[in-house]
Amino acid sequence: MKKPIRIGALISGTGSNLDAIVGACDAGKINGRVVFAGADNPGAKGLGKAKKANIPTFVVDYADIIRQFGAGTEQENEEKLPPDFDLDDISRKQSIAPFFDTNRVHTFLKTRGIAEAALLEKMGPYPFDLLVLAGFMRNLTPYFIDRVNTDPAHPKIMNIHPALLPAFPGTDGYGDTFRYGCRIGGCTVHFVDYGEDSGPIIGQSCFPIDDDDTIESVRKKGLEREWALYPECIRLFADNRLKTVQMTNTLKNGKIVQRTVVKIVRPS
Ligand code: GAR
Repeated sequence: MKKPIRIGALISGTGSNLDAIVGACDAGKINGRVVFAGADNPGAKGLGKAKKANIPTFVVDYADIIRQFGAGTEQENEEKLPPDFDLDDISRKQSIAPFFDTNRVHTFLKTRGIAEAALLEKMGPYPFDLLVLAGFMRNLTPYFIDRVNTDPAHPKIMNIHPALLPAFPGTDGYGDTFRYGCRIGGCTVHFVDYGEDSGPIIGQSCFPIDDDDTIESVRKKGLEREWALYPECIRLFADNRLKTVQMTNTLKNGKIVQRTVVKIVRPS
């Protein structure tokens, strides 16, 4: 049997997905164990649950970092940046904030760079094979992603998103799905790339939205799907069954479309 994988988790809120993942590991459904749970805010309820399950926890307070940056002088802020922070490289790669003006993009990337360097430091003592974003409500920049994904052929950051991507990226997937009047809602697990909820899709699960549904009932239906889908995708990763490949298609007008996609390979 393959060695169990070490799973790191980042959360922002309730942590019900983290619970589902820990439960699936404990039940032997995932060949792995959760080695840390980090949060972007000290109020994340999931931290308490992780502590109860004897999982090491830590917090990097993003809001506080952003606030301090806003109050700091230019020189003070430059001094806070990690020594290996290359603004040009990160700006060129990122596609999270394409509509921001340059100043806003730079402030965004610098504040996140400071927070992400702190995250990497806190994660340091806990080596991991897979990092799962389990309701982590912060975009990760290329600064962080490149330092985790050291082998581009083997991405190792996964996210769960509360919508059927590529529809409704962003912070309120179920709300956006409901408000649009969709008849079907769903959730998506994907690898993280330099964009917002744009990385290669690993798995999706869907449910009907009926006339008497509300945003709350849609969210409830969705979360139940998430608790099954996320562990299943992590199981495939742990069993070495996820492969990223380049897919190339030529459209009728001759345009060539390329995208990295995930293939699920047979068990070896
Ligand atoms: C989940 O619905 C997850 O899909 C969503 O946050 C919720 C977290 O719930 N994630 C995002 O919106 C990420 N952009 P949980 O804390 O109970 O797992």
